Amino acid sequence: MIPEPIVWQGDFLQLIDQTKLPEELIYLDCKTPQDVAAAIKRLSVRGAPAIGVAAAYGVTLGMDNLDETIDLLASTRPTAVNLFWALERMRRCISQHQGMNLDQLREILIKEACLIHEDDKEKCRKIGEFGASLIKDGDGVLTHCNAGALATGGIGTALGVIYTALEQGKRIQVYADETRPLLQGARLTAWELKAAGADVTLICDNMAGVVMREGRINLIIVGADRIASNGDTANKIGTYSVAVLAEKHNIPFFVAAPTSTIDITLSDGSMIPIEQRAQEEITRGFGKQTAPDNIKVYNPAFDVTPHELIKGIITEEGIAEAPYSFL
Ligand code: MRU
Repeated sequence: MIPEPIVWQGDFLQLIDQTKLPEELIYLDCKTPQDVAAAIKRLSVRGAPAIGVAAAYGVTLGMDNLDETIDLLASTRPTAVNLFWALERMRRCISQHQGMNLDQLREILIKEACLIHEDDKEKCRKIGEFGASLIKDGDGVLTHCNAGALATGGIGTALGVIYTALEQGKRIQVYADETRPLLQGARLTAWELKAAGADVTLICDNMAGVVMREGRINLIIVGADRIASNGDTANKIGTYSVAVLAEKHNIPFFVAAPTSTIDITLSDGSMIPIEQRAQEEITRGFGKQTAPDNIKVYNPAFDVTPHELIKGIITEEGIAEAPYSFL
């Protein structure tokens, strides 16, 4: 397994800098909420549950003005609801302990952040157990982006299912989409599955259809950034295309996510805010110019897969099947 990606050091936060993987495994020290906010924005820490955990610790680094600290952290990325869920939990904890001196309150908030972290670990474990029942010995499983240990406080959601099935002795061929434009599949999923000794094959995103048609894929499992109450699911851009291909090839498509990713305030996926990212991610991928100057670019970081393409949603409470109604 890989080293802990999120480490609380008592008075500062250490994060594996995921922008440097797989070339370098280095930790980033975050000593202020500004450091944590910048790390979330530039994707040094990414993946919906991991963003929530990092932000919770970030709150404890900005005790001078907690409202400002929470607002700053909330302004980093709009799509993953776990960020707002974790910040809301911290806000509730603050209001329950009003009148306390700052040192005492800080200790309580650190405990709350650790609890959010621990809870997520436990949720990943349970998601893994429920989801592993879907995988048969010898299956080929496709995943998109990174919903693994790097993206959560535990073993991951989609990859947590795969790790658990592997632990049960099942042989699995995992296919990882490289996940343009930032290559979370190639840089992160392939890296962490390889470190775990899994049989992983990396493909470009545009190869997913062919590997399905060739009969290599029995099951698809992806993570989620926000799930509306009807089951529509926002996840990394490209997930929707995978789900459409899955339907065409009659392959079950599952989402794995903790219940903290479900946003019951939204009736359907059209209401999920989609983060738009810098055009340089496409025109200058990893420092090299890959498109003409001044080209028009559209770069949504996420898409929404409609619930009718999703066979089931694996949470820590079990596997929900359509019709979804998380109310
Ligand atoms: O932009 P990213 O890398 O934060 O996007 C991550 C994803 O889309 C993941 O699939 C999702 O957050 C689930 S992580 C368990």
